[in-house]
Amino acid sequence: MDFKLTEEHLMIRDAARDFAKNELLPGVIERDSKQLFPTEQVKKMGELGFLGMMVSPEYGGGGMDTVSYVLAMEELSKIDASCSVIVSVNNSLVCWGIETFGTEEQKKKYLTKLATGESIGAFCLSEPEAGSDATSQKTTAIDKGDHYVLNGTKNWITNGGSADYYLVIAQTDREKKHKGINAFIVEKGWDGFEVGPKEDKLGIRGSDTHTLNFNDVKVPKENRIGDDGFGFKFAMKTLSGGRIGIAAQALGIASGAYELARDYSKIRKAFGTEICNHQAIAFKLADMYTEIEASRHLVMKAAWDKDQKKNYDLSGAMAKLYASKTAMNATVEAVQIHGGNGYVKEYHVERLMRDAKITQIYEGTSEIQKIVISRSILKD
Ligand code: CAA
Ligand code: FAD
Repeated sequence: MDFKLTEEHLMIRDAARDFAKNELLPGVIERDSKQLFPTEQVKKMGELGFLGMMVSPEYGGGGMDTVSYVLAMEELSKIDASCSVIVSVNNSLVCWGIETFGTEEQKKKYLTKLATGESIGAFCLSEPEAGSDATSQKTTAIDKGDHYVLNGTKNWITNGGSADYYLVIAQTDREKKHKGINAFIVEKGWDGFEVGPKEDKLGIRGSDTHTLNFNDVKVPKENRIGDDGFGFKFAMKTLSGGRIGIAAQALGIASGAYELARDYSKIRKAFGTEICNHQAIAFKLADMYTEIEASRHLVMKAAWDKDQKKNYDLSGAMAKLYASKTAMNATVEAVQIHGGNGYVKEYHVERLMRDAKITQIYEGTSEIQKIVISRSILKD
């Protein structure tokens, strides 16, 4: 067993850390407060290769492993979880989905732009009546020979307004249930594709979340991903890896809050001493640090499983379940350790606390992770 990161891993982690400190930290409070999409920051992340980290260099990506990706996700999330979810959706849902299951033409046409950040992607599974219960899709894609006609509504779509390309999951044959679902690449601007208003959210407010409407959108057959009926498996397989990215995001939010609280506790004085000298505060830090380290081990194990081509459905779900709970606990305690200062924007921890909550909801709620975990451990 070797817990050591390679020189390359450390370089990537440090590059992400520097970028987050120098480029994401300035303006993060304003972007959160005004719900501003980080256009400039996303452009720079594309230039630095953060948007297609794991994509093969053949298609313009960084050719890095999943361990590198989660290290970068943690560092970006310590400072700005709105930016890191953009990175996560683009890398582990959209790019990975197309690279793993797309045709050569799809990779040349779409992946090469997504991997470099020239274009941004979105992943559209959820609907008003099909969130956790993802097989209950109402959006339809009717086969018309050389094309499909797409009708329906997707909601809660991250990068909904800012994306160029959308992976849309839709029902092509209701009788076949989940075996009648397909996944398509849809371009923004196609006739009948309408981006709805932006959601006003509790957290990750810099990330834009929209409802999307599809009214008789013509999708060429060559834009279907995989064989007919592969769409639900495509979504599930893609989400298994996506959950590792969100687990890393949760880990980053937790460790960002921990570091702020630790540093604050060493300078803030009460009753004649720094508050870290009060055991009640020191024990909070001890609990936070322990849970964060446990989360890090789960996240790294899931990333390693993926890199070793082992099954990562279970390890990814456990990492997301535990790291998201840790993010909630750590951020609530970080606010507490900051006292009144924790309750105002200037000290960052209130934003991290608001951002933490989404990690227990998207890419499968904590209850859904428990379904995945329990089914897996009871199977044999
Ligand atoms: N890999 C491959 N196939 C899988 C799979 C996986 N990880 N998980 C399930 N499947 C297959 C099953 O084998 C089954 O196929 P067969 O009949 O051929 O065996 C088929 O999919 C249906 O599976 P289930 O019977 O298990 O389906 P279910 O209705 O019980 O649902 C579920 C399973 C795990 C709860 C699933 O519905 C689920 O994951 N729900 C949550 C949805 C979700 O995570 N949404 C996230 C949206 S994207 C997002 O949120 C992005 C963001 O915020 C940034
Ligand atoms: P529901 O499924 O209605 O769940 C409500 C509650 O019931 C939850 O607590 C849930 O855990 C629980 N529950 C449901 N079923 C069960 C069960 N069988 N057993 C126990 N408990 C259960 N989706 C996308 O497709 N793409 C995106 O890019 C995307 N981005 C998002 C960004 C944000 C900010 C948000 C808020 C959501 C995003 N989502 C996205 C949607 C997200 O994946 C869903 O919100 C999530 O899967 C839960 O679905 P739901 O909201 O319909 O809740």
